[in-house]
Amino acid sequence: MNFVEVIERKRDGAKLTRGEVEAFVTGTVDGSLPREQIAAFLMAVCWRGMDGEETRWLTEEMLHSGEVWQLATDRPGAVDKHSTGGIGDTVSLILAPLMASVGTPIAMMAGRGLGHSQGTLDKLAAIPGFRTNWDRDGVIALLDRCGAAITAQSEKVAPADRILYALRDVTGTVESLPLIVSSIMSKKLALGAATLVLDVKWGSGAFRTTVPDAVELGSALKSVARDMGVACEVLITDMNQPLGPALGTAIEVREALEVLEGRGSAALRELTLRLAEELLVLRGETREPAKRRLLNALDGGKARTAWDRIVEAHGGDPNPKILAQPLREVTVPASEAGWIGAVDGRALGWIAVDAGAGRRKVDDVLAFGAGLVVEPRIGDRIEAGQPLARLLIGKRTVDESDLTNRIRSAFTIVPQRVEAPKLILGTVDEVAAHLGGKP
Ligand code: URA
Ligand code: CA
Repeated sequence: MNFVEVIERKRDGAKLTRGEVEAFVTGTVDGSLPREQIAAFLMAVCWRGMDGEETRWLTEEMLHSGEVWQLATDRPGAVDKHSTGGIGDTVSLILAPLMASVGTPIAMMAGRGLGHSQGTLDKLAAIPGFRTNWDRDGVIALLDRCGAAITAQSEKVAPADRILYALRDVTGTVESLPLIVSSIMSKKLALGAATLVLDVKWGSGAFRTTVPDAVELGSALKSVARDMGVACEVLITDMNQPLGPALGTAIEVREALEVLEGRGSAALRELTLRLAEELLVLRGETREPAKRRLLNALDGGKARTAWDRIVEAHGGDPNPKILAQPLREVTVPASEAGWIGAVDGRALGWIAVDAGAGRRKVDDVLAFGAGLVVEPRIGDRIEAGQPLARLLIGKRTVDESDLTNRIRSAFTIVPQRVEAPKLILGTVDEVAAHLGGKP
């Protein structure tokens, strides 16, 4: 097959054949397709899209590009969670110990940062010694030992996603429904937990910026999960501003610890508890008692204790004092008084990336001390001179005045009071029904 013709067919809006989709995935994984053709194909898909059948083919080919672990056969009780990506989204770091502490094992195949968003793997890499390159036996041993296993895509499992994810990150091809669905679901299905909760974000800091677009993504994810026999719930949640105030790597680990210690971001705590609740309900528990059990585990310190166990089991050092610190902090004040009317989440995400919490090029090195802490939330009153954000400078050389200017422009300050956006809109079916669409 001449792959240039496949690229041209997608460029011109044609529906691909299963053989062509297979050729794309096979050629990506075995190295026979040059990177420029992979990138051009991704851009064509980004522009032209794929129908439901093409998306399913792509997901299946990516799933079968490596080992299929089927964890459910050995550990039927194991659950999994994934978010479609955002900023200040530290949920996974809190959810893992929380689930472990209530006796529900959780296995997650996490990703690195993608585009403007920071990834769980990058945050965990800030913990000295923390390993994420586990094989199937390693994951099962972790689940038995500490109740949680966090692993990366590798050459062995979901290898197609590992390659495509890294390329999409640096070619402007993240924002595509079929590429997001196949990326997420190939990893989730390769791991093969029987129960899955998905946090689909909408807003300025998400890859889908409107509610209908997020619902479209959520429904597509849920229907692939359902077709593959996975018990799945999807929540549609707000990403018009950072979920927790911290954007970065080490700083997000510290933020997760704050929530585990009963302090920290209220939004982060609320969303983590709700996702955990959905997992227990999918596992057959009654909602109210499940909720109480989770609250007790979080507030009674059991989840905090589980964190240390999980970090140690993954080879990491749980002492928070050794996490990288910024070399310096720069506070960016508001230049006028008013109410925070809007936040450009994507711009804030890219600022954190450029400060050192992410990559512009595949081989960029992260600065674990770097990041951004966003102070006010939408709807908050702010006076001139009060801090909008603190820029954390790490070991990467940055253009400080460019970053601080970009921080200032990421906030819209308005003269009248504004409503804070609702954090959890509902399940995808509830939100779809509300929009008047089909659930
Ligand atoms: N998370 C993923 O794993 N892949 C995407 O494409 C987006 C979010
Ligand atoms: Ca995330």
